[in-house]
Amino acid sequence: MNDAPLPLSLTANGPLSGTVTVPGDKSISHRSLMLGALAVGETVIDGLLEGEDVLATAAAMRAMGAQIEKRGSRWHVHGVGVGGLLQPQVALDMGNSGTSTRLLMGLIASHPITATFVGDASLSKRPMGRVIDPLSQMGASFSAAPGGRLPLTMTGLCPAVPLRYTLPVASAQVKSAVLLAGLNTPGHTVVIEPVATRDHSERMLAGFGADLTVETQGGTRIITLKGEAELRPQALTVPGDPSSAAFPLVAALIVPGSDITIANVGMNPTRAGLVKVLQAMGADISVVQPRSVGGEPVADLHVRHSPLTGIEVPPDSAPSMIDEYPILFVAAAFASGRTVMRGLEELRVKESDRIAVMAAGLQACGIPCTEHADGLTVAGTGGDPVPGGATVPAHLDHRIAMSLAVLGLHARAPVTIDDARPIATSFPGFVAMMQALGADRR
Ligand code: S3P
Repeated sequence: MNDAPLPLSLTANGPLSGTVTVPGDKSISHRSLMLGALAVGETVIDGLLEGEDVLATAAAMRAMGAQIEKRGSRWHVHGVGVGGLLQPQVALDMGNSGTSTRLLMGLIASHPITATFVGDASLSKRPMGRVIDPLSQMGASFSAAPGGRLPLTMTGLCPAVPLRYTLPVASAQVKSAVLLAGLNTPGHTVVIEPVATRDHSERMLAGFGADLTVETQGGTRIITLKGEAELRPQALTVPGDPSSAAFPLVAALIVPGSDITIANVGMNPTRAGLVKVLQAMGADISVVQPRSVGGEPVADLHVRHSPLTGIEVPPDSAPSMIDEYPILFVAAAFASGRTVMRGLEELRVKESDRIAVMAAGLQACGIPCTEHADGLTVAGTGGDPVPGGATVPAHLDHRIAMSLAVLGLHARAPVTIDDARPIATSFPGFVAMMQALGADRR
């Protein structure tokens, strides 16, 4: 990140229009680099997200022996093979990225190497105990800052001990950390998932040739991975990130007269909860040309400005839209009536406490809302502009910065984000894309 804070204020002086694409999916981009780095031979990736979080993963995989380079628009990864990761000679700087940290801890847990993880102020507050617990059971050892936080040094065990693990929190990162540790562990590593979370790791591990099965009993998923695995290099195309598409999508819903298309958006059912919830609130969103790209469902989204009505969002939607709640809170600010969103305790341990930070941001902009331990109730304007007129802190959280920037598009007085630099972690072209749709910087 550059040295000086970068304030941002957006406005819309008329309807948003046009067709845009959003950058590649962050979750899939991380996994493409990690699995490519563990396959023997060359993996080629189109559409990789070139955000700071993913570049932190690339740097870490290089530090452990993989060759990763960009030629033209494609990324090429020469892997070291499962079991072949080398001892990194420097601390692994994870920046703002929880996904890089937790998934890499999984990979290292079953390699005979020692690694130190460091990160920014936001990442250094986030709990790592949720991955330290299962990976310790597999034999890895850890020395972490108080509360199981970064900076953290770990040593893997090879061969590690296979684990049968029931997830205590609905977390794709914890699931993926255990599965990635299982790659270099003899025998069967089993993750039991009482509540389904994003399934990119399962799809991609199978695509790279790992012996992985998923059994469903009632709502519970039982994922079994057989180690030690041999991964085959792949040609991958990363779909557009639905979590990034959420920002222009809600922008078009709230700015009167808008009519936009967001092309090539990932529609994996474990990620697509926001579209369903917004449709239930009255949003005019058409899912156009559903298709499959690289083993993932993809579609174009045609979105028109819509009157929205507050609803009680089913708490069981949470895992399929966990990163989209900040922007859903913004949509709720323009709905008629109250929108009640519960079951969101995980939002408190993201890049910031997203319930507290959004509640404070919305209130500062004149939107009444009530914070709950596990969620937020927002009373909307019924489509009128929000009062605005505040400078709001983003707390080093890219999704807070983008959500509050979208809020400002339809506000009577400017909404200024104190520092927009964190947006580069997941969506480097966000402001340019909003300008292409017709928004202006104030
Ligand atoms: C991610 C999982 C989610 C999500 C994060 C990316 C992943 O985190 O919030 O942005 O790629 O596995 P949790 O596992 O903490 O829910």
